[in-house]
Amino acid sequence: MKKLTVVLMAVSLLTGFAFAGGKKDASSGKLIVGFAQIGQESGWRGAETNSIMFYAGQNLDTIQLHFADAQQKQENQIKAVRSFIQMGVDVIGLAPVVETGWETVLKEAKDAGIPVIFVDRMAKVSDDLYATFIGSDFIDEGMKAAKEMARLLGDNGNVVMLEGTVGASAAIDRQKGFLDEMAKHPNIKIIARQSGDFTRAKGKEVMESFLKSYSKIDGVYADNDDMVLGAIEAIKEAGKKPGTEIKTVSVDGVKGVFEAMVAGEANVTVECNPLLGPQFFDAAKRLKAGEKLPKWIKSEEGVFRRETAAKDIGSRQY
Ligand code: AHR
Repeated sequence: MKKLTVVLMAVSLLTGFAFAGGKKDASSGKLIVGFAQIGQESGWRGAETNSIMFYAGQNLDTIQLHFADAQQKQENQIKAVRSFIQMGVDVIGLAPVVETGWETVLKEAKDAGIPVIFVDRMAKVSDDLYATFIGSDFIDEGMKAAKEMARLLGDNGNVVMLEGTVGASAAIDRQKGFLDEMAKHPNIKIIARQSGDFTRAKGKEVMESFLKSYSKIDGVYADNDDMVLGAIEAIKEAGKKPGTEIKTVSVDGVKGVFEAMVAGEANVTVECNPLLGPQFFDAAKRLKAGEKLPKWIKSEEGVFRRETAAKDIGSRQY
């Protein structure tokens, strides 16, 4: 907590889009970065934000960070990016809440000569509008999740899907990977799909309605761990046993799911690494120095099962 307070004092915080104003201090020689974060919808997102703020806080002599929390609204992220352009930051980091609708503001950044790094989520724009994407292979995560679900169900059963934010690359690509892989398992039926917006509260709400509508659910797949944690609550309240009667597979690897696995209430989490602060600032430094970066800097990730959760939990950092 103490560490986080120090870090918060070290960066300028823009909540929503209410940009506090001010110009960058070009004379400082520091790397000046604006970061437009999605919001605080999940534990994973909190870990990513902490990783970015912590790194900036540890490097105050060389980095000045301006951080905006868009409260899950694209218009707020666009306003934040415009504020950063106005300030004349060296590099902009953007975790696009949805894939589309970024061309205009990214052209403005390009015209101002400010490189943009997509962090964790991609946007559908031409290559000239961003410098690099740092993040995971979401299709691969969805495929790994489907393989785990097929294994848990012995290749037979009814599955419901809790989907992430509509239009988000993390949701679109994970579902593609999951469904493509599931097509190889014809005895597993996807009986319902609905968005839970990557939040625990909505994951619970959607699972409650699935449980009312379908008497036989053998597995729940969720695009993130927070939604599965909500689903676990709903399953228990419905008098069923998550992790045994209804198997769970989700993506992220947050501590809450490891705790649920240790308690026997969840089965598998596919890791998605949020600790992107060091990679992000390294890329920003290199861009400021005029280097050209690969278009995709990929994160490496694993799969964690209930059987080893008690051992694995000790080494989890988020
Ligand atoms: O973009 C990554 C996803 O966004 C994470 O899986 C999810 O938890 C977050 O909100």
